[in-house]
Amino acid sequence: MSRITPTLLSLCALAVPFAFAAATQSPAAPTPANQASGETMKAVRIHAYGKAEVLVYEDVPKPVAKAKQVLVRVRAAGVNPVDWKIRGGLFGGELPGPMILGFDIAGVVESVGEGVEGWKKGDEVFALQPLSRGGGYAEFAVTDASALARKPAKADFAHTAALPVAALTAWQGLFDTAKLEQGQSVLIHAGAGGVGHFAVQLAHHKGARVFATASAANLAFLKELGADVAIDYKAQKFEDVAKDVDVVLDSIGGETQQRSFGVLKKGGILVSIVGQPDVKLAKEKGVRAGGILVKPDGKVLGELAALIDAGKLVPHVSAIVPLAEARKAHELSESGHTKGKIVLEVSRAESGAERK
Ligand SMILES: NC(=O)c1ccc[n+]([C@@H]2O[C@H](COP(=O)([O-])OP(=O)(O)OC[C@H]3O[C@@H](n4cnc5c(N)ncnc54)[C@H](OP(=O)(O)O)[C@@H]3O)[C@@H](O)[C@H]2O)c1
Repeated sequence: MSRITPTLLSLCALAVPFAFAAATQSPAAPTPANQASGETMKAVRIHAYGKAEVLVYEDVPKPVAKAKQVLVRVRAAGVNPVDWKIRGGLFGGELPGPMILGFDIAGVVESVGEGVEGWKKGDEVFALQPLSRGGGYAEFAVTDASALARKPAKADFAHTAALPVAALTAWQGLFDTAKLEQGQSVLIHAGAGGVGHFAVQLAHHKGARVFATASAANLAFLKELGADVAIDYKAQKFEDVAKDVDVVLDSIGGETQQRSFGVLKKGGILVSIVGQPDVKLAKEKGVRAGGILVKPDGKVLGELAALIDAGKLVPHVSAIVPLAEARKAHELSESGHTKGKIVLEVSRAESGAERK
């Protein structure tokens, strides 16, 4: 069983997703039952927590799909901050064994388990893997049939793999939790990042007035995404610009979160994706606050794919890195200044952005 130390708990309290337990239960390696094929595949695993050097490209057992599961030949896998947070041991707990990271997969159905309907070999798909499974940094990954959606026709595998964690987080934060409506206003922190660049587009498409923060170099990007007001968080106080908004989507936490309560109108809501927000402070200010942890949702992924095909949502991929160079992808992500997404290319058939 995972062990969570008090030190790590306090470290994580503010800066990392609060659904700590879910992450620490992450055996992210296939369960024994999923390893029955006897074949091997290439994957990137960690055998210990540490810096990017602990990512090892190696041969591992190829998994098989159990009942209600699908085996996907992975073409591309998204990279998210949670990947290097787990790798770095930030969630604490004992590493339960060699672990394959990666929660965003895009690829082609290889085989289906018993009781799976609606999916067949050759279907082009994508999915969010639960934190308890991971498995995306590999040639093959097992996923729950209910988590799958059809790949958008207008996006290649790399751009499709950019979607699951980041776009579902934006959707679940803005719509499922904050219930953002047309005509309302929203402040989106880190609007140029993975979650933020989808959130700005989705809120704009909904018909909301969008305030978004980024550094000076990304202000034009925010405007292209549909932000009405782009705020340089290094040069301006966002609270001097955004006032009386209905919703704040917070992916920064700390002081930024404390100050964000002041920009909400009475009854407005702050949704944090980086920890449980200060509900007591929110109450004192007459606003609401809640934290979310993204969860798989094949149906909403299908709606996101439809928006892409309609030209209303565009994933921005700033770097495509070969699977074998996952260390480089982690180092890029850990810089904290990713524009859009970083994606691992698992097979070579397609590419959609400049390699770095
Ligand atoms: N709870 C959940 O389910 C969930 C899901 C997804 C992500 N998360 C968490 O949410 C956070 C963001 O994830 P992400 O994938 O969007 O990260 P990301 O892509 O790495 O975010 C990078 C962006 O953050 C911006 N940024 C950095 N400091 C900023 C500041 N003080 N104010 C405004 N923007 C700032 C950078 O813009 P500049 O380069 O212009 O500075 C950059 O574009 C991470 O901590 C991640 O672990 C949680």
